[in-house]
Amino acid sequence: MLEIDKVSKVYGGKMAHRALTDVSLKVEDGEFVGIMGPSGSGKTTLLNMISTIDEPTSGEVVINGENPHNLKKQKLAEFRRQVLGFVFQDFNLLPTLSIEENIVLPLTLEGEKVKEMEKKSLQIARKLGIEEILNKRITEVSGGQAQRAAIARAMIHEPRLLLADEPTGNLDSKSSKDVMELLETMNKEEKTTTLLVTHDPQAASYCDRVVFIRDGKFYSEIHRGEKRQPFFQQIMDTLAFLGGEHDDLSSVRHS
Ligand SMILES: Nc1ncnc2c1ncn2[C@@H]1O[C@H](COP(=O)(O)OP(=O)(O)OP(=O)(O)O)[C@@H](O)[C@H]1O
Ligand SMILES: [Mg+2]
Repeated sequence: MLEIDKVSKVYGGKMAHRALTDVSLKVEDGEFVGIMGPSGSGKTTLLNMISTIDEPTSGEVVINGENPHNLKKQKLAEFRRQVLGFVFQDFNLLPTLSIEENIVLPLTLEGEKVKEMEKKSLQIARKLGIEEILNKRITEVSGGQAQRAAIARAMIHEPRLLLADEPTGNLDSKSSKDVMELLETMNKEEKTTTLLVTHDPQAASYCDRVVFIRDGKFYSEIHRGEKRQPFFQQIMDTLAFLGGEHDDLSSVRHS
């Protein structure tokens, strides 16, 4: 469903910076893939190439048989609204709107009927356990609740591909676990193909596969078997080899 073929990205400006070099990745329909790597290794850059927030310098991105970078402005906007869903670390919710108004935002943009929007938002809010707080404003709820609202917003139009950049980065471990269990359930039930960028090995252990990048290049990938715990251990071991900001963890484990 997603094919990234030798994508490179060089940021221009006074000091040109090569953020990605020939990264290739194939993701199957319904797969849940984690992307890990040290800070500055190019994870967000890679997601931005897929979400079409930014253009690759070379290489190709194909989603559902189509290269979105070749679409005209209007078609591209439509493609992003209909095929993609986004969740960010800082939630990106509108603070003056209620939880419900935030959740239905993508449908508002599509011109959906109010009754239909109310029905859909209640449905997804139930699934995410936030139906009690639909009328509250973002400023009146906890971080975990806000992140669940952000997931609801990203999922309400049933995107084929969900892109999440550090969705648990601002959460405590309990909320983080809740959010990951939610993403896992949505992935299994709705078959939403999901790409998750994370620094957290615990969060990554919910994925079917974790891809590691270092210095803008593919480093390695590991697949999860039946159990999450051994996969978590494997992720920790790979991070230890990978170095970067995970050195602190590796030194503890290997001392
Ligand atoms: N708009 C930009 N212009 C120039 N350089 C950039 C830009 N965005 C990112 N970079 C550089 O590209 C490299 C990769 O950045 P990127 O944001 O993709 O890293 P990351 O893996 O997401 O890191 P983190 O884990 O800290 O979020 C970094 O060296 C960064 O400084
Ligand atoms: Mg990043």
